[in-house]
Amino acid sequence: MKICRTKKSLSALSDAWHQAGETVAIVPTMGYLHEGHLSLVRLAKKKARRVAVSVFVNPTQFGPNEDFERYPRDERHDFALLRAEGVDAVFAPAPEDMYAEDATVSLVESKLSKVLCGAFRPTHFAGVLTVVLKLFNVSRADVAVFGQKDAQQLAVIRRMVRDLDVPVEIVGAPLVREKDGLALSSRNTYLSAAERRRALSLHKALDAAEADYRAGKTDPAAATARIAKALAKSCDSVDYAEAVDADTLEPVKKLGPNTLLAVAAYVGKTRLIDNHLL
Ligand code: PAF
Repeated sequence: MKICRTKKSLSALSDAWHQAGETVAIVPTMGYLHEGHLSLVRLAKKKARRVAVSVFVNPTQFGPNEDFERYPRDERHDFALLRAEGVDAVFAPAPEDMYAEDATVSLVESKLSKVLCGAFRPTHFAGVLTVVLKLFNVSRADVAVFGQKDAQQLAVIRRMVRDLDVPVEIVGAPLVREKDGLALSSRNTYLSAAERRRALSLHKALDAAEADYRAGKTDPAAATARIAKALAKSCDSVDYAEAVDADTLEPVKKLGPNTLLAVAAYVGKTRLIDNHLL
């Protein structure tokens, strides 16, 4: 596995692969890898001959009072996991290499990124889109894999690729959960044992709403009210519980296929998100 510390070295590697007639997939991550990330890597290996994984805690997607400084990092462990998966290259640049010190251009999406998490994290998706487009440009990837766990991120990235004709195929990968249903997230490491038990309420509330839907209940207001009520009992605060179309992120009039039930809530100081795609 090649370790690329500079944009130049990853681009050169990808160019060599393409010259040899090989396709390239990128799996963008912020490291502190878990089974969810590894499932993205495994899917990427099915989609392209070569797989590069980026490990970069992107400063521009964190708000001023968010957890950039304390975001968990363990590069050695990450690299060992990626090596074991047979990844071809890892891209782990220093922030100074990723961004020019006086960078003045960033990418703003003006609709999908304003709702759900975007309403609470107003600069987040501009940071995500900017770094993701840079990763596409630097890696020259043919395919990129993102998790359905960050359903809004996936929708916003798909929109960027559509609207800017970015020559990359976006693949969404199913959300991975612990045995008890907790959605895997690097931020779960912040949770104490007691908080972790309370965090299960996100999945449980979504599960109950999905069961109602399967039983024929299709009123989005009733579903989201039920979810919000359950979360209010176990979480310290609830940012949102919404039923939206998974592609447009617009509220649905009736629950149906492609409806995304999405939640964000705090357990202690940790902000958690989860979703079910009906
Ligand atoms: O999903 C993430 O971990 C990040 O938002 C991403 C896509 C790697 C961009 O920094």
